[in-house]
Amino acid sequence: MPLTLEGPTLSLRPPEPGDAEALFALASDAEVTRWFSWGPYTAVEQAAAYIERCAGQRERGDQLDLLVVHREHGPAGITGLSEFSARDGRAMVGTWFGRAFWGTGANRESKAILMHLAFAVLGLHRLGSYSNPVNERSTRALLGVGFTHEGVLRDWHRHGDTWLDVNVFGLLREDWAASPLAQIPVRVTGEPPAAVPRG
Ligand SMILES: CC(C)(COP(=O)(O)OP(=O)(O)OC[C@H]1O[C@@H](n2cnc3c(N)ncnc32)[C@H](O)[C@@H]1OP(=O)(O)O)[C@@H](O)C(=O)NCCC(=O)NCCS
Repeated sequence: MPLTLEGPTLSLRPPEPGDAEALFALASDAEVTRWFSWGPYTAVEQAAAYIERCAGQRERGDQLDLLVVHREHGPAGITGLSEFSARDGRAMVGTWFGRAFWGTGANRESKAILMHLAFAVLGLHRLGSYSNPVNERSTRALLGVGFTHEGVLRDWHRHGDTWLDVNVFGLLREDWAASPLAQIPVRVTGEPPAAVPRG
């Protein structure tokens, strides 16, 4: 059974081929993909190719991207874990939502669900995240869900010919345990793929 994590209003599960139209609609908005090395989508095939890539990354344990589905409004965006280190028990989290979901609390609940996955299910010790220093909304959103700003990594990402600095953030297992996000109920069915590192 594929992994599904359910919170009060959102569920997270691996994206499937039938989600391509919905992902295309959400990420064909240039505001949504403004800070990314990809997008905006201009054809549904780009979303379909992404979904196919996700399946391989999941099975290899390289990356675990999950579709965020709102109980009433349907697919909302993507959140996931990447850059796993099994030895150190850590991973990075990245998230994007369609614009209609910004400022709705979806980001907070999705982060609570992903933290439950990282710490309670996978047993990791640390979650990290990045933001572009110019992307104040993303930076504020990460601080708002309990991440600590730990510094700036110079020329960390390459987008085309441009090198970009990033803010780096961290949240330790003990930070999560003491945070109100750990109190948000999450129901887990299915298992993460066997290759996904555990802490
Ligand atoms: C980043 C993202 C996931 C955050 O979700 P969200 O629902 O927009 O976030 P929230 O509304 O919970 O929090 C945003 C914070 O930024 C603040 N904010 C909103 N617009 C802002 C702006 N233009 N400048 C500075 N701060 C801003 C909000 O007031 C809020 O801060 P507060 O909680 O201290 O009031 C979402 O905006 C998104 O998908 N953006 C596009 C993709 C992206 O940039 N992903 C992150 C890559 S690192």
